[in-house]
Amino acid sequence: HAAMADFLGAASAEEIIIGANMTTLTYHMSRTLGRAMKPGDEIIVTRMDHEGNVSPWLQLAEDLGLVVRFLPFDEKSWQVEEAALSALLSEKTRLVALNYASNLTGSINRVKALTAVAKQAGALVYVDAV
Ligand SMILES: Cc1ncc(COP(=O)(O)O)c(C=O)c1O
Repeated sequence: HAAMADFLGAASAEEIIIGANMTTLTYHMSRTLGRAMKPGDEIIVTRMDHEGNVSPWLQLAEDLGLVVRFLPFDEKSWQVEEAALSALLSEKTRLVALNYASNLTGSINRVKALTAVAKQAGALVYVDAV
Protein backbone atom coordinates (compact mmCIF):
# COMPACT_ATOMS: atom_id res chain seq x y z
CA HIS A 1 0.00 0.00 0.00
CA ALA A 2 2.74 2.46 0.91
CA ALA A 3 4.59 1.74 -2.31
CA MET A 4 1.43 2.30 -4.32
CA ALA A 5 0.63 5.55 -2.51
CA ASP A 6 4.13 6.86 -3.24
CA PHE A 7 3.90 5.79 -6.83
CA LEU A 8 0.52 7.40 -7.40
CA GLY A 9 1.39 10.47 -5.39
CA ALA A 10 3.69 11.44 -8.22
CA ALA A 11 0.75 11.80 -10.61
CA SER A 12 -1.43 14.87 -10.64
CA ALA A 13 -5.11 14.58 -9.78
CA GLU A 14 -6.53 15.34 -13.21
CA GLU A 15 -5.02 14.24 -16.47
CA ILE A 16 -6.46 13.29 -19.83
CA ILE A 17 -4.65 10.68 -21.88
CA ILE A 18 -5.44 10.23 -25.57
CA GLY A 19 -4.82 6.83 -27.12
CA ALA A 20 -5.69 4.43 -29.90
CA ASN A 21 -8.72 2.85 -28.20
CA MET A 22 -9.98 1.77 -24.80
CA THR A 23 -8.37 -1.67 -24.90
CA THR A 24 -4.93 -0.35 -25.80
CA LEU A 25 -5.13 2.34 -23.13
CA THR A 26 -6.16 -0.25 -20.56
CA TYR A 27 -3.16 -2.41 -21.46
CA HIS A 28 -0.93 0.62 -20.89
CA MET A 29 -2.66 1.47 -17.60
CA SER A 30 -2.51 -2.11 -16.35
CA ARG A 31 1.23 -2.33 -16.98
CA THR A 32 1.83 1.06 -15.38
CA LEU A 33 -0.22 0.33 -12.26
CA GLY A 34 1.24 -3.18 -12.11
CA ARG A 35 4.63 -1.69 -11.32
CA ALA A 36 3.36 -1.06 -7.79
CA MET A 37 1.91 -4.57 -7.35
CA LYS A 38 3.57 -7.74 -6.12
CA PRO A 39 2.87 -11.49 -6.11
CA GLY A 40 -0.07 -12.35 -3.88
CA ASP A 41 -1.74 -8.97 -4.30
CA GLU A 42 -5.38 -9.23 -5.37
CA ILE A 43 -7.37 -7.63 -8.17
CA ILE A 44 -11.08 -7.81 -8.91
CA VAL A 45 -12.70 -7.96 -12.36
CA THR A 46 -16.39 -8.38 -13.11
CA ARG A 47 -18.40 -10.99 -14.99
CA MET A 48 -20.11 -8.26 -17.05
CA ASP A 49 -17.22 -6.17 -18.34
CA HIS A 50 -16.09 -5.98 -21.96
CA GLU A 51 -12.94 -8.02 -22.68
CA GLY A 52 -11.07 -4.71 -22.93
CA ASN A 53 -11.42 -4.29 -19.16
CA VAL A 54 -10.75 -7.92 -18.26
CA SER A 55 -7.96 -9.39 -20.39
CA PRO A 56 -5.35 -6.70 -19.60
CA TRP A 57 -5.85 -7.32 -15.89
CA LEU A 58 -5.85 -11.13 -16.23
CA GLN A 59 -2.63 -11.01 -18.22
CA LEU A 60 -1.06 -8.69 -15.65
CA ALA A 61 -2.11 -11.12 -12.92
CA GLU A 62 -0.58 -14.04 -14.77
CA ASP A 63 2.71 -12.20 -15.26
CA LEU A 64 2.98 -10.88 -11.69
CA GLY A 65 1.41 -13.74 -9.74
CA LEU A 66 -1.60 -11.70 -8.62
CA VAL A 67 -4.76 -13.35 -7.30
CA VAL A 68 -7.85 -12.61 -9.44
CA ARG A 69 -11.31 -12.44 -7.90
CA PHE A 70 -14.35 -12.43 -10.19
CA LEU A 71 -17.20 -10.14 -9.20
CA PRO A 72 -20.59 -11.46 -10.32
CA PHE A 73 -23.59 -9.29 -11.14
CA ASP A 74 -26.98 -9.70 -9.50
CA GLU A 75 -29.34 -11.71 -11.67
CA LYS A 76 -32.38 -9.65 -10.63
CA SER A 77 -31.01 -6.10 -10.80
CA TRP A 78 -28.50 -6.91 -13.57
CA GLN A 79 -26.07 -4.66 -11.72
CA VAL A 80 -22.92 -5.17 -9.72
CA GLU A 81 -24.00 -4.81 -6.11
CA GLU A 82 -21.99 -3.15 -3.34
CA ALA A 83 -22.49 -6.15 -1.05
CA ALA A 84 -21.03 -8.51 -3.64
CA LEU A 85 -18.03 -6.26 -4.01
CA SER A 86 -17.57 -5.99 -0.24
CA ALA A 87 -17.51 -9.76 0.00
CA LEU A 88 -14.51 -9.96 -2.35
CA LEU A 89 -12.44 -7.08 -1.01
CA SER A 90 -9.54 -7.75 1.31
CA GLU A 91 -6.56 -5.84 2.66
CA LYS A 92 -4.63 -7.29 -0.28
CA THR A 93 -6.97 -5.86 -2.95
CA ARG A 94 -5.06 -3.38 -5.06
CA LEU A 95 -7.48 -2.70 -7.90
CA VAL A 96 -11.12 -3.14 -8.91
CA ALA A 97 -11.93 -2.95 -12.63
CA LEU A 98 -15.56 -1.95 -13.22
CA ASN A 99 -17.75 -0.94 -16.10
CA TYR A 100 -20.17 1.95 -16.14
CA ALA A 101 -22.54 0.82 -18.91
CA SER A 102 -22.33 -2.83 -19.89
CA ASN A 103 -22.28 -3.77 -23.57
CA LEU A 104 -23.25 -7.28 -22.44
CA THR A 105 -26.40 -6.54 -20.44
CA GLY A 106 -27.19 -2.86 -21.07
CA SER A 107 -27.00 -2.25 -17.32
CA ILE A 108 -25.68 0.93 -15.79
CA ASN A 109 -23.73 0.30 -12.62
CA ARG A 110 -23.63 2.57 -9.56
CA VAL A 111 -19.93 3.23 -10.04
CA LYS A 112 -19.83 6.07 -7.53
CA ALA A 113 -21.15 3.89 -4.71
CA LEU A 114 -19.01 0.93 -5.79
CA THR A 115 -15.94 3.14 -5.94
CA ALA A 116 -16.58 4.37 -2.40
CA VAL A 117 -16.72 0.77 -1.15
CA ALA A 118 -13.50 -0.17 -2.96
CA LYS A 119 -11.65 2.93 -1.80
CA GLN A 120 -12.62 2.24 1.80
CA ALA A 121 -10.68 -1.00 1.46
CA GLY A 122 -7.72 0.89 0.02
CA ALA A 123 -8.15 -0.34 -3.56
CA LEU A 124 -7.83 1.66 -6.74
CA VAL A 125 -10.78 1.65 -9.12
CA TYR A 126 -10.51 1.56 -12.90
CA VAL A 127 -13.80 2.36 -14.67
CA ASP A 128 -14.54 1.52 -18.30
CA ALA A 129 -16.93 4.29 -19.30
CA VAL A 130 -17.12 3.38 -23.00
C1 LIG B 1 -18.38 -1.29 -22.85
C2 LIG B 1 -17.20 -1.39 -23.75
N1 LIG B 1 -15.97 -1.30 -23.20
C3 LIG B 1 -14.86 -1.38 -23.97
C4 LIG B 1 -14.94 -1.54 -25.33
C5 LIG B 1 -13.65 -1.63 -26.11
O1 LIG B 1 -13.40 -0.42 -26.73
P1 LIG B 1 -12.23 -0.23 -27.78
O2 LIG B 1 -12.70 -0.82 -29.08
O3 LIG B 1 -12.04 1.25 -27.84
O4 LIG B 1 -11.03 -0.96 -27.27
C6 LIG B 1 -16.19 -1.63 -25.95
C7 LIG B 1 -16.28 -1.79 -27.39
O5 LIG B 1 -17.34 -1.82 -27.97
C8 LIG B 1 -17.35 -1.56 -25.14
O6 LIG B 1 -18.59 -1.63 -25.64
